[in-house]
Amino acid sequence: MNCRKLARFLSAKPLLIAALFCLPAHAAKKQVIGFSQIGAESAWRSAETESIRSEAAARGIDLRFSDAQQKQENQIKSIRAFVAQHVDAIIIAPVVETGWEPVLREVKRAKIPVVLVDRGIRVSDDSLYATLIASDFVEEGRRAGDWLAKKLNGKGNVVELQGTTGAAPALDRKKGFEESIAKHPGIKVIKSQSGDFTRAKGKEVMEAFLKAEGKNINAVYAHNDDMALGAIQAIEEAGLKPGTDIIVVSIDGVKSAFEAMVTGKLNCTVECNPLLGPAAFDAIEAALSGKPVPKKTIVQDNVFDQEAAKNAIASRKY
Ligand code: AHR
Repeated sequence: MNCRKLARFLSAKPLLIAALFCLPAHAAKKQVIGFSQIGAESAWRSAETESIRSEAAARGIDLRFSDAQQKQENQIKSIRAFVAQHVDAIIIAPVVETGWEPVLREVKRAKIPVVLVDRGIRVSDDSLYATLIASDFVEEGRRAGDWLAKKLNGKGNVVELQGTTGAAPALDRKKGFEESIAKHPGIKVIKSQSGDFTRAKGKEVMEAFLKAEGKNINAVYAHNDDMALGAIQAIEEAGLKPGTDIIVVSIDGVKSAFEAMVTGKLNCTVECNPLLGPAAFDAIEAALSGKPVPKKTIVQDNVFDQEAAKNAIASRKY
């Protein structure tokens, strides 16, 4: 094509020219972010995954998602795979608190920023991650304890369904609850066992508690809604009325917990917001552009009893 023909061709294609010359320099390269998720053990977890996936899509990010099936070794493998893929940043929801230093040192050497979501970790060097975005689990336990102590008028036998052994929310929610009920010597935790944050395990453990203690049980404190919903099933199958014969308090605030409160089977849930996608990607953006990032961002949550649940159920987002 000679010069005159080329000029004529280009003048007839203004949109093509605009597209070729006006593209921003970064538009060619999509940001690649790895997300090492714990699993899909609860409705809360699925809501968190959805929040991160949809926020990544809205921002045009290539999200590499890995489900660890509740196993730390799977998370470590996926984090190493993200490093090998030279991702721009990594989001981790760590299943347990300890055992992260070696792999996070590898990530740091590769100069990849790490954003922790929902669960904290114990490391001697906190430069191994950029930030943690999470609820205050100790405070959640305290709130559940304060609410229950009031409901029981400071007297009663409680069984506790703990979360995954070694997980920050299991350790902290236990601690906060114990702190709160220590002020009420009439309240006793007569049984406490892990239900691994799942509905099935919560039901199984509650069945064993009911077999051992029966009508001795005045209340259940479950570290999450899924286990509480499993416990509610076990209570019903034992011929008792959850919410009346046995008071049930839990943590998370998922939709099905609100439904159970409206039908009177669950008495109270302490909210723990899983919609962490926007905050996680804001933190990554700041970390990648060298802006200061707070080491910890605490998510603000509420407490809902049956009355509050009736008013709030229609507007729940998860
Ligand atoms: O880390 C948050 C906890 O993990 C939620 O309470 C629980 O439902 C989830 O599995």
